Formats: sequence, structure tokens, C-alpha cells
Amino acid sequence: MKIGLLTGGGDCPGLNAVIRAVGRKGIDYYGYEFIGLKNGWAGLMALDYKEMERKDFSGILHLGGTILGSSRTNPEKEEGGYDLAVENFKELNLDALIVIGGDDTLSVAQKLHERGIPVIGVPKTIDNDICATDMTFGFDTAVSIATEAIDRLHTTAESHHRCMVVEVMGRHTGWIATYAGIAGGADIILIPEEAFDMNDVIKKIQKRMNRGKFFSIVVVAEGYQLKEEGWNIQTKEKDNFGNIRLGGIGDLVAREIEKRLGIESRAVVLGHVQRGGTPTAYDRILGTKYGIAAVDLVNEGKFGMMTSLQGTKIRAVTIEEGVKESKTVDKETYEIAKVFFG
Ligand code: F6P
Repeated sequence: MKIGLLTGGGDCPGLNAVIRAVGRKGIDYYGYEFIGLKNGWAGLMALDYKEMERKDFSGILHLGGTILGSSRTNPEKEEGGYDLAVENFKELNLDALIVIGGDDTLSVAQKLHERGIPVIGVPKTIDNDICATDMTFGFDTAVSIATEAIDRLHTTAESHHRCMVVEVMGRHTGWIATYAGIAGGADIILIPEEAFDMNDVIKKIQKRMNRGKFFSIVVVAEGYQLKEEGWNIQTKEKDNFGNIRLGGIGDLVAREIEKRLGIESRAVVLGHVQRGGTPTAYDRILGTKYGIAAVDLVNEGKFGMMTSLQGTKIRAVTIEEGVKESKTVDKETYEIAKVFFG
């Protein structure tokens, strides 16, 4: 059997762990051949690929990024679109396609599955917002990086009696903000799912000041909407999947706090630092489990399915279920975070 493998969308730590597991089990147990499609869907559209040997699946477990490259190419926006993708799949004599990606990349996988392509999905994103799975790999690494940053900002905030506003990634959901905020002891966490406005923020910081605490840590997800100002966006241009580039909400929040409370405030945008570098042990293990499960699903012929973490077990769900909607932060966890606000 000849299998195509691709990684699409924003990269995330743990992608190479998945690739390694797919390749190693695929070659050693099932005798599969692999083609690595370069840069996500762009590789399939342009027939840009590499025939992978066993040695290509070695020495990559600890590496961040993806050895296959990634992009936000969307076949729907390309000349010939899905027809070309189907034609190229046939041209390459592929028997199956393993697609490692977030909601955008997996929604393309679903469309190709509906057109008869045997596809298996593996959910990835630091945002942890994919449905039908408890966790995506990359999230744990992002939370660790953000937590370390918050710890560092704590000491300087305290020394200078400042309010530090930390902007973390999370386009539609506040998973990273909530988890890193809890782990880092944030005084307020602002996420897209919760209607916590500027007046609430001011009240909480004021409460701290009344207690003699003249520093605060505010964690804000990039997708948080400040009612008074609307979305803060870096550019109105959209990527191929219609996503606007976010960024700058932290600065708005910091300026507002300084204006209303007279407390010196600074914003720090963690940005792509959260996506780079070596994956945590947790993400390497989850990535490895997903990779093994994906190639097993190919072997069982269970196409149109996506690997999923349910509790501590790896299961399979339909890709359709996975891309249905964004998985938002659960109320229970946010309520825990709120206990420590102010
Ligand atoms: O989807 C993952 C993500 O890291 C989001 O949190 C963020 O908004 C986006 O990607 C950034 O995308 P890009 O790397 O294209 O700027």
C-alpha cells in the first residue's frame, strides 16, 4: 500500500512525533510505502512530494515544526480545486492519505473523503479547539511556554508595581489563556467565550490595589473581544480559509487599565513563540499515540475517521464530527480560574 502524508495549517510541537509513529509502524509492521506531500495541501495540488524512506522517520521525535513543511493552502481556492486534488491522488497511485491538521485542513480532508478519497485525519492545534477529542497535541507545549512566560512576568511586575498583560494565542477559544492563566496564577483571564468586560477587569485590579497589591497579571486570548473597541486585528486581509490575522488586544487592554487606574501597564505578545521549539513529553506521547492509531486505521480500512483522545484512551471518530464546530473552554474550568480573579 502507498500512503500520502501531509501536515497543514499552523505548525505545532508534536507533528514530527506523529509523522515518526506513522512511518515506523507503517513500514515495520505493515510494509507500507510513504510519500510525504510538502507544505500541506499545496504539495498535493502541485505534486510537490518526497518519497520517504525509513531513515526519514528517524531522529525527529524531539524536533519542533514539521519535516514536511506546512501551509494554509486551500484546494477550494486553487485553480481546479478539489478535482485536481483527486486527480493528483490518483496520479501518485496512492491508496490512502493521512492528513495531520486543524479544523481548516481537516475540513478539506472531509470534502475529499466525500469525493471518494480514502482519508484518515489526525487533529492538531495548539489552540485545543477541535471537537470530539479531549486534547490536541501541541496544546500542552504552548501552555508550558505561556506559563513560564507568566512566571517571569510576575517577578518584574511585582518589582515595578505594574500591570502586565500577556496576550496568548487562541483565535476562537481561550484554552491556552485559561490553562496557562490557572498555572501561572493570573489575576484575570480574558477569553472569547466569556463576557468579562473592561469594567470587571478594572474592579478586580482595584480590589487588589485596595489590598495593597500594586501589581497584577492579566492573561488575554488574542481572540478576546473588547466590547468598547471591537476586534483588534493586525490586518484585514484573510488567509485562504477566511481567517483574519489577530493581534494587539493585549495592548488595548493594557492601555485601558493604565488610563482608568493610573497603574503603569505593559503588554507582552507571546505570539509564535508558543508554537515553536521542542515538544513536551506529553505532546510527544500523544503525537506518537495518534500516529500509531492513524496508521492502524488505514490498515483496518476505516476511512473518513479521525484519531481522538477520550479520557486516557485513543479512539476513532468521524472527521465530520471533529470539524463540526469549535470546542470551547468548559465552564467548570473557567469557574476554577475565576476563584483567583482579583
Ligand atoms: O491556529 C493556530 C494558530 O496558532 C492560532 O492560535 C493563531 O491565531 C494562528 O494560528 C496564527 O496563524 P499564522 O501562523 O498564520 O499567523
